[in-house]
Amino acid sequence: MAILKIARMGHPVLRTTAAPVGRERLATPEVQRLVDDMLETVRDYDGVGLAAPQVHASLRIVVLDVGAGMEAWIDPVIEPLTEELAYTFEGCLSVPGLRGLVGRPRAIRVRASTREGQPFERRLEGFSAIVAGHECDHLDGVLYVDKIVPRTLMFTEEYRRYAGELFGGEE
Ligand code: NI
Repeated sequence: MAILKIARMGHPVLRTTAAPVGRERLATPEVQRLVDDMLETVRDYDGVGLAAPQVHASLRIVVLDVGAGMEAWIDPVIEPLTEELAYTFEGCLSVPGLRGLVGRPRAIRVRASTREGQPFERRLEGFSAIVAGHECDHLDGVLYVDKIVPRTLMFTEEYRRYAGELFGGEE
C-alpha cells in the first residue's frame, strides 16, 4: 500500500469527468490496489473522504466515512430525496487551507457497488449525505468552491476564529 499524492485545485484531473469502473475492471489488481491506496491516503490525511480524481486517477471511485468507518463506493450514483438544503462549511484536501459554506440536499439515495462488486442502495441524511455529495461531485469535475454561498470563503484559521460568531460555527 502507498500514500498517494493529492492533486490540488488547478490540476486538470480535478476538472475531468471520471470514467466508470465497471465490474470487469473492478476485479483487476490495479483497481483493487488503487482502492487500498486511497483508503491508506485518506486515513493518513485524516480526511472524511477522498475521490479517485484527487489522486490523479480519473475513475468513479470514492472512499468515505458516512458513519460506519471508511468504505469504498464504486460507480456511485446519488439522487436527492428532498429539495431541502443543509448548509455546512466544507473543506477539501485538494483545496488546502480554505473553508466555505455550501448547501446540499439534506437526504439522498446512493446506488453503488462495493469493491467486491456487490451492488447496494442506501439512504443517507445530514452530514453523511453532505460528505457523499461532496465526494461524488469530484467524479464530475466539480469542487465545493463552485457551490459556495457568496462571501463565505475563508481561510481555515480565520474560519476557526470567526465563523462561530458569523454563522453559528457548524462544520
Ligand atoms: Ni474534496
